[in-house]
Amino acid sequence: MKGKTKAICAASLASLMLLAMAGCGGGGDKKAADNGGKKLTMYWGALEDFMVADINAFQKETGIKVEGVRMSSGETIGRIKAEKANPKASLWFGGPADGQIQAKQDGLLEKYVSPNAAKIPDQFKDKDGYWTGVYVGYLGFASNAKLLKQAGVEAPKSWADLLKPEFKGQIVTANPGSSGTAYTMLATLVQLKGEKDGLAYMKALHKQIKNYQKSGTAPARLAGQGECIVGISFLHDAIKYREEGMKDLVLTAPAEGTGYEVGAVSLIKGGPDQDAAKKFIDWALTAKAQEIGQTVGSYQFLTNPDAKPPKQAAEIKDTKLIKYNFEWAGAHRNELVEKWNKAIKD
Ligand code: G6P
Repeated sequence: MKGKTKAICAASLASLMLLAMAGCGGGGDKKAADNGGKKLTMYWGALEDFMVADINAFQKETGIKVEGVRMSSGETIGRIKAEKANPKASLWFGGPADGQIQAKQDGLLEKYVSPNAAKIPDQFKDKDGYWTGVYVGYLGFASNAKLLKQAGVEAPKSWADLLKPEFKGQIVTANPGSSGTAYTMLATLVQLKGEKDGLAYMKALHKQIKNYQKSGTAPARLAGQGECIVGISFLHDAIKYREEGMKDLVLTAPAEGTGYEVGAVSLIKGGPDQDAAKKFIDWALTAKAQEIGQTVGSYQFLTNPDAKPPKQAAEIKDTKLIKYNFEWAGAHRNELVEKWNKAIKD
C-alpha cells in the first residue's frame, strides 16, 4: 500500500508542477505548452516597429516565441539563398512580392495556402500558393517644402520632373539591388518606358542622385530631415515621418503613373519551425492582425477586405498606378538590377 501511495503522490505532484508551470507564467506559458513550446524565427521586410508590434501580439495570442530580423528585400533573398542547405528562418514577412516571386523561382520557398487566404483577393496572392499579400504600398516622392522654396522649384509631379537641373544632386533613393522599394521604381520605369528607354531614364536619374541608401524607407526620412530635396519612397512611409514631426514633407506622385508593392508573406523551404510559421501566416492574414501596423505608423493599404484601412492613407488613395506586372518584375529582378548597374556605370 505504502509503495502504491508513494507512486500516486509522485504522479500527482508531477501533474501539479506541470499545471503550476503552465499557470505561473500567465496565459503565455499555458499557450506555449499548448503549442508544444514552439518558437519561430522570421525575416521581416517592413519597418521594425511594425515587426515588434506584430511579434508581441502573436506571442500573446499563441504563446509561440518569435524572433524577427529586419532586412531589405535584396538582403533577405541573399540570406535565404546562403542558408538554403540549413535554413535558420521559416518565414519571410513583408517587402514587395517581387522578392518572394524571385525566391519562389529560385526554389527557396515552400507552398502554403492558409485557410485564411480565401479572404484575400486573387490579385494579392500567388496563384500557385507560394506567397500571400498582407499589405499594399504606393511609390512616390517625398519632398522638403523648405528646400523646394529655397531652390525655387515645385515638388516633382512626374518622373520627367526629377531630371530638372534644380534637383541635381538633390535626390535620394535606395539601391535597387538591396531595396524592394527601389527595385519597384526600376521595374516601374521599365514597364512604363520599355527596357531601353527605362534604363536610359535611370541613367539620366543617376546624375541627379545625391546617394543611394540600403533601404527604401531612408529617402523619405532624409528629405524630412532636410538632407535632400526629394526622397523616393513608398508614400505611406512619408506619411509616417510627417506624422512623427517632419512637417516639411510634401507628398507627390508621378502623373505618368507609379508602381506599387504587394507586401507578401511566405514560408521558407525547409525552415526549422514550419508549424509555427504556418500559424503566423494564418494569423497575419486575419483582419485583426492586419490592423496592427497602423497603430505603429505603418500606413499601408490592407489586403483583407474586412480589415479597417489606416485613415492616414486616405490622402493617397487616388494615386495613378501603372498596371504593375509582379510576375514579370519578380522573374526579371536579377537581370534588371544587373542592367541597371551597367547603365549607371557606362
Ligand atoms: C518599408 C515599407 C514597406 C516596404 C519596405 C521595403 O518598410 O513600409 O511597405 O515593403 O519598406 O523595404 P526595402 O528596405 O526593401 O526597400
